[in-house]
Amino acid sequence: MSTEAFTFHVDSSVDKASARAASLVAEQIRRKPDSLICVASGSTPTQTYANLGELAAENRYAVDRVSIAKLDEWLELPPDDPHTCESFLRQHVLEPLQIRADRYIGFDNQATDTLAECRRIETELQNSGGIDIAILGIGINGHIGLNEPAAYLQAGCHVADLAPTTVGHSMLEGTADRVTRGLTMGMRDILGARRILLLAFGEHKAEPIRELLTKRVTTQFPASFLWLHQNVTCIFDQAAAASLAGGA
Ligand code: GLP
Repeated sequence: MSTEAFTFHVDSSVDKASARAASLVAEQIRRKPDSLICVASGSTPTQTYANLGELAAENRYAVDRVSIAKLDEWLELPPDDPHTCESFLRQHVLEPLQIRADRYIGFDNQATDTLAECRRIETELQNSGGIDIAILGIGINGHIGLNEPAAYLQAGCHVADLAPTTVGHSMLEGTADRVTRGLTMGMRDILGARRILLLAFGEHKAEPIRELLTKRVTTQFPASFLWLHQNVTCIFDQAAAASLAGGA
């Protein structure tokens, strides 16, 4: 199913949807072995990353020239805290795909000068030749990365004040301190990706997906900015895609 620059796939299970997402990413890497892949953290892409690791282990594509860019990161957590996006990505992406430091672009959540850290990532992204594919999840409030609903968005990498729903994100359950800020790529960085893969699974994502499908582009729902992109592939499970039933 396709509308404008969006292509929709609705799969009957998270497993099937994740396999589809992983195979699209593997295909991208086969086509361009030195692809730069932007990766979200969170529960949504976990199975996709596991599948990508399996495909790599089976030599279905070569990982030795792939680069990875981290979409976002929580601030106010100690180094090596298991709740950071860095720990998540190390476990699910960087170690399984054996991504070395020189092929990784990632916010350092220990940076004392966070603005300089944002500038460093922005420069690295610019020097990299651009993101080939971005694997994104969507927040229940419509955030993408940590671009939160607001009166205005920030185009480039920036320090984000987290929305209350984001402070309650499952990744932050059990942290010693309350996390209120993060580092994130901005919508310009994200929309600069040549291709975007938007994943959404579960009933709790049905409402944000319904809102996305209204096609109203507003800073109060940052995911709506994806409508400005030319090549977005949405992969949903049936629960998240409930509002698509009539056809998009
Ligand atoms: C968090 C993460 C994002 C993620 C989003 C959705 O804010 N920092 O990278 O895409 O929430 O998370 P989940 O997939 O767990 O619903």
